[in-house]
Amino acid sequence: MSYENILIEKENGIALVTINRPEKLNALNKSTIRELNAGFESLRNDDDVRVVILTGSGEKAFVAGADISEFASFSVEEGARLAAEGQELLFDFVENFPKPVIAAVNGFALGGGLELAMSCHFRVASENAKMGLPEVSLGVIPGYGGTQRLPMLVGKGKAMEMIMTAGMMTASEAKEYRLVNHVVAQPELIDFCKGIAEKIIKNSPSAIGAAIKAVNAGFARDGYKQEITSFGDCFGTADFREGTTAFLEKRKASFTGK
Ligand code: COA
Repeated sequence: MSYENILIEKENGIALVTINRPEKLNALNKSTIRELNAGFESLRNDDDVRVVILTGSGEKAFVAGADISEFASFSVEEGARLAAEGQELLFDFVENFPKPVIAAVNGFALGGGLELAMSCHFRVASENAKMGLPEVSLGVIPGYGGTQRLPMLVGKGKAMEMIMTAGMMTASEAKEYRLVNHVVAQPELIDFCKGIAEKIIKNSPSAIGAAIKAVNAGFARDGYKQEITSFGDCFGTADFREGTTAFLEKRKASFTGK
């Protein structure tokens, strides 16, 4: 299959998947989500692939979020469907992928971008990376599992603060709060991840698949459904219209709470 928005390179048991829309800071539109689903599906069935590294194209961004231009005019139902489909096709799919998936966070990982990195089994960041969930600044909430996975990684209090302030963490703060395992200079990021992958490849693939299932089972939560409903509800508010319109018009939002 040929892809428009992603690149897949395979070498020595490692697949490097690159989200490739650098002019939009690799924002996740629907077709990129579908391509990632198809790409991961093909890697799952490829016996030559043992570990996947997921990164973003260019030096600026891993993924700057869901594509705001695509959902700014959505209704409540369309918003809820966007979250539900995205979770099923990509975020849950990656989290439950039977082979290790390492996020190589090479720049901004915001909104859906951080949610995607958090769906991966663990994360390595470059020194310039910045991470956050800015959704409430747009009048919406994280809808791709962020309200569930961020508290699991950084703890409830820090997650609440990050979500409420819509602020960004630097790479070193992200390491301090265990959001990422390692921070390395940007030019070394992919080789560093490949080094970890090489250690993983020496071990039993079936045992690793079983470990992924077991670890995930311990973190199973029922909050994802509530997130989808609450995410959809935001699409019926004046704040959501104002927040998304302000972003697209490149101005500051003025919220009324309606
Ligand atoms: N959705 C759609 N387009 C996006 C995007 C997103 N999430 N993030 C960035 N882009 C686009 C910009 O609109 C811009 O497109 P243009 O050149 O056609 O105008 C391009 O990517 C470059 O972004 P720009 O904002 O000009 O870069 P910057 O260096 O000034 O700022 C960010 C970088 C990441 C701080 C800023 O792009 C941003 O805040 N993005 C949105 C983050 C967000 O809220 N994500 C959560 C979405 S739910």
